[in-house]
Amino acid sequence: MRYAPSLDRLHSEAAFEVLAKAKALERKGKRILHFEIGEPDFDTPEIVKDEAKKALDENFTHYVPSQGIIKLREAVCDYIEKTRNFRPTPEQVLIFPGVKPGIFYSMLALINEGDDVIYPDPGFPTYSSLVDYISAGDVPLKLLEKNEFRMTPDEINEKLTKKTKMIILNSPHNPTGSMLKKDEIKAIYEIAEDNNVYLLSDEVYSQMTYEQPHYSVAEYDNASERTILIDGFSKSFAMTGWRLGYAIGPEELIKKMTVFLINSVSCTNAFIQKAGIIALKDFDSVKKMVEKFGKRRNVIVRGLNEINGFSCIMPMGAFYAFPNITETGKTSEELADYLLKKAGVAVLPGTAFGSGGEGYLRFSYASSIENIKEAIELMKKVLG
Ligand SMILES: Cc1ncc(COP(=O)(O)O)c(C=O)c1O
Repeated sequence: MRYAPSLDRLHSEAAFEVLAKAKALERKGKRILHFEIGEPDFDTPEIVKDEAKKALDENFTHYVPSQGIIKLREAVCDYIEKTRNFRPTPEQVLIFPGVKPGIFYSMLALINEGDDVIYPDPGFPTYSSLVDYISAGDVPLKLLEKNEFRMTPDEINEKLTKKTKMIILNSPHNPTGSMLKKDEIKAIYEIAEDNNVYLLSDEVYSQMTYEQPHYSVAEYDNASERTILIDGFSKSFAMTGWRLGYAIGPEELIKKMTVFLINSVSCTNAFIQKAGIIALKDFDSVKKMVEKFGKRRNVIVRGLNEINGFSCIMPMGAFYAFPNITETGKTSEELADYLLKKAGVAVLPGTAFGSGGEGYLRFSYASSIENIKEAIELMKKVLG
């Protein structure tokens, strides 16, 4: 095959590789407890499913405007007004299939070869993959446990160069569950403003917080100048397979990004957008789900801290625990493999999220309390 060499610069995602290994063991009859996949184990709320069925019956099955149907874009504006400290205009909103395309389109639209991009390490793998794909300057910022895995404004200042074009924020954070504090977010905004840098704020876990509310960096410029807020339905509304997300950004940028949609998918699925309008009003289902996640969080963190060689700080958001495993004497990858084979517990090595994740494992606690307790006992057994 004479495919484009740039394809070699896109990376895959380890979560899917671990899932494949776990499934292969399951096919051989081994029982596996799954903590590797980052998706809620809850079903999509009934009222959202009903709305999609209704929209199908009403033949809402044709092409719709590429930027997204106006009713959904208005619903996004209402939702942002309730959940963040500002109200965007529908012209600032772009709907697309999932959160990932929003990251993809924003980066392709703003970053050139040679521009520097600062992003969290460990961090969601798509960020570094796209930085490499674009041949941009790769500037991972190592998140430290002593800072509770938060990116500090001082560390950002140290990484800043004349070439810095974008800083990627992800709070609550995958894989560590960390959350930036309001004063840090403000300071980061000021750094971006002083240095004329864009801020891509991946807020896909915005509703999954346990101790403090979520703040968006986009409130400082109403996403009208240098911030692009990305959020979606996958995690908050248990809608991973539906593929629905949105960006809120400067109108001019949103217009340009719409052209990516026109050229790639034409528009986002029509009847799914209809269901999205209802989902954005369903704060009850989100609240119930987060309450359950909160209970699981306490059980898993307590349990992980009882395992020989593990220590785990309390995550503030998302549904991930990120224990330090250095005292087991194994690397992240060795330990993840060992736990899968010996204990039947599937987890991700911290290094699946960049070299900054060495010495850690990521547990997605999208699993029942019974499964969490069983996994802790199994791991205690094999780790002595
Ligand atoms: C930080 C982060 N951003 C984006 C995504 C992708 O979301 P979606 O499935 O809606 O594309 C994920 C999914 O795991 C994530 O953890």
